[in-house]
Amino acid sequence: MKVLLIGATGNVGLRLVASLLTHGHKVVAHVRSAQKLESLLPESVYRQLSVIEGSAFDANAIKIAILENECDAVVNSAGLAAVTPWGKSDLPQIVAAIVEGARQAGVERKKPLRAWFLGGMSATQFPGTNSLLSDHIPILLDHGRNLALLKALPPNTLDWSMLCPSNMNPESSDFSVPTKSSHARLTASAQTPPLWKDSWLRHIPLMGKVLVIAMNMSRYGTTLEQNADFIANDLETLESPYIGTQVGIIDASK
Ligand SMILES: NC(=O)c1ccc[n+]([C@@H]2O[C@H](COP(=O)([O-])OP(=O)(O)OC[C@H]3O[C@@H](n4cnc5c(N)ncnc54)[C@H](OP(=O)(O)O)[C@@H]3O)[C@@H](O)[C@H]2O)c1
Repeated sequence: MKVLLIGATGNVGLRLVASLLTHGHKVVAHVRSAQKLESLLPESVYRQLSVIEGSAFDANAIKIAILENECDAVVNSAGLAAVTPWGKSDLPQIVAAIVEGARQAGVERKKPLRAWFLGGMSATQFPGTNSLLSDHIPILLDHGRNLALLKALPPNTLDWSMLCPSNMNPESSDFSVPTKSSHARLTASAQTPPLWKDSWLRHIPLMGKVLVIAMNMSRYGTTLEQNADFIANDLETLESPYIGTQVGIIDASK
């Protein structure tokens, strides 16, 4: 598949470059600075990319990048969610522009684009309820707002998914291709965190769900490389089970 990768210079973005190439995809990297990307990647990897410099706020430029490069999919790892409710972040503006650019490109090529967005665990649903984890612990609210934007899209306009990891740590800073990882492939589920541990604590008034979230949270740490591999692997087919939903993930081998 040919993938427009926005935010290739970030922690997730650099691993996505390596994983997408390892899975046989062609990568068009959309970055603010090509020079920065070149300085971060091995020369042999950088040479395999098409690189576009531009603003992730520019929906029209994103549409043109998709159409001129004949991309089948868009992956966004640009922007970083604000942690606190009063924090400021470019992420909602970036996601809104990419959604609009990808949607318009889908209209022009008469086929919706496949798209992956990076969210966070806060945007998964508390199992057995319709509420998001961030409805109970109000942090990283940008991800929930971006999810609402995606869910409000009319059907057949964008084949989107939102990956919702908890904390991600690096395995290495070696971005050579093919990637080498000793970690297991992630286990995923639509909407909720997989393998959630329920507890009677849930029934405690007001604080019950907060306690169950806090009890579970530490089990969901993964690596940046595992998440990049998950997206790159999913894009091997257009028949993903995760279209139109947020996706919870866990390293079940831990
Ligand atoms: N890291 C984690 O543990 C973690 C956990 C859960 C979810 N997430 C989510 O995963 C996503 C990626 O995280 P990350 O750790 O890879 O972030 P990061 O390392 O800070 O990378 C952010 C990327 O966004 C780009 N960017 C920032 N503002 C931009 C703008 N206005 N226009 C264009 N590009 C812009 C940066 O480009 P420059 O290089 O040009 O600055 C960089 O490529 C975020 O949405 C984050 O909230 C992260």
